[in-house]
Amino acid sequence: MDLSLRGHTLRMEYPAGVHPHAPTSEVMARLLEVPAGGSLLDLGCGAGLFAVLAARLGAARVLATDLDPGAVAVSAANARANGVGDRVEARVGDGYAPAGAERFDRVVANPPQTPCPEPFRVDKWGGEDGADLVVAAVEGAPAHLAPGGRLYLMHSSLAHPRRVREALMARFAVEVLAVSRRDFAVAEYEGYSPGLWTHLLRLRGEGRSEFFVEGARGHFVVACYRARSPGDGA
Ligand SMILES: C[S@@+](CC[C@H](N)C(=O)[O-])C[C@H]1O[C@@H](n2cnc3c(N)ncnc32)[C@H](O)[C@@H]1O
Repeated sequence: MDLSLRGHTLRMEYPAGVHPHAPTSEVMARLLEVPAGGSLLDLGCGAGLFAVLAARLGAARVLATDLDPGAVAVSAANARANGVGDRVEARVGDGYAPAGAERFDRVVANPPQTPCPEPFRVDKWGGEDGADLVVAAVEGAPAHLAPGGRLYLMHSSLAHPRRVREALMARFAVEVLAVSRRDFAVAEYEGYSPGLWTHLLRLRGEGRSEFFVEGARGHFVVACYRARSPGDGA
């Protein structure tokens, strides 16, 4: 797939088993800014869209990490195919572990955030209320941001919005950069795991998930946040 973004044409390959990026990730890709010569951590990189784009935009050091070795291999291949293989390093691992103690000018994360009592798909499952990996990305960010650094975070309103906002606001000054609508069919969720739709309705009733539904179709929203340490410049 060829993708035209920010004056660059990216050639992204999505072999079987690696999920193509969603339109909402393209929204974030259009907003992500990286200082020239700076560094970026793409946490949960998938096929490496943010990593490849950051390198093409001028980042000197990009680390792309994912729990899925297939995603990491594809990110490395996509970086090479886009002429930035020398500036994008891809590592396998859980959360921030592959980054060790390294700090970055930018951390970008679009964690899996579909709520489900049981694991179902590594690119979608975010724990019982959906927010576990989003909150982990927020909690780990201060130790991985360089002075003046920024966390760019995608958050689906399916995943316990209050829990995520509280985690963000306890640590960061936060801006909402964009909010996009994501349509779905109820059958999509039942297809992921039997009983999942009932689980989502229960979470919504408890104020732990936000979405709209009418009949067999509905929608939720995906926010793109930019977060910085308080007092670290506007
Ligand atoms: C929603 S996809 C996002 C992919 C890509 N960043 C994008 O926006 O298109 C989430 C990614 O997180 C990865 N992932 C899931 N659990 C993880 C974990 N514990 N640590 C690191 N990555 C994880 C998945 O394999 C998947 O590639």
